[in-house]
Amino acid sequence: MEIQLWKDILNPYELAVEELLVKFNHLIKEYQDRGMYSPMEQVCGRVKSISSILDKAQKKNIEVDKIEEQLDDIAGIRIICQFVEDIEKVADLIRNRSDMQVVTEKDYINHMKSSGYRSYHMIVSYPVETFSGTKTIRVEIQIRTVAQDFWATLEHKMHYKFEGDGPDYITKELRECARYVAELDERMQELNNAIQKYGKNLE
Ligand code: GTP
Ligand code: MG
Repeated sequence: MEIQLWKDILNPYELAVEELLVKFNHLIKEYQDRGMYSPMEQVCGRVKSISSILDKAQKKNIEVDKIEEQLDDIAGIRIICQFVEDIEKVADLIRNRSDMQVVTEKDYINHMKSSGYRSYHMIVSYPVETFSGTKTIRVEIQIRTVAQDFWATLEHKMHYKFEGDGPDYITKELRECARYVAELDERMQELNNAIQKYGKNLE
């Protein structure tokens, strides 16, 4: 496909990622301005590179003209939370927004993947105003804790390095670490709840 054609295809996705970053970051600021705790700690986003799109299309046997129809993660937003209970709050916040519509949800928080991966995934449809009018595209939103993100980043690096087939001991060790991450998240959540309750009792 010609470069200009790729540019035309990816343009709305770039706009969507930029807009959503502005919106979610502004929301974080609103919480801060009100002196409130934000369930979102940090937001980042990216548009998949042309080479990754082509790689994925090839792996999944998707024809080039079906890429937009069949790839959900050309535009991706990642929302990082401090605590596990924040994840559901963020998911709810997204469900209640009028500027996007939830298409699917995947709960890898309560249903960990066999790799040890944990995260809450939402595919939303989101309209953008482009040069050629309104275009509604799909965006993948991943919501996870700081600890889950730490784990996923390292696991992704392993996956990339060994093209998906890492040495047994690394895969095993990663699964073991995923258990520690889950335990850490749970204990930090309990600690946070205890701190909140203690503060309330003092009042
Ligand atoms: P993809 O073909 O990867 O899109 O899988 P899918 O369509 O079944 O969607 P899924 O929700 O499983 O995964 C979507 C995205 O989540 C991936 O592109 C990754 O960014 C992330 N992800 C899913 N599983 C793992 C995992 O085991 N490890 C890491 N590090 N990331 C994962
Ligand atoms: Mg996918």
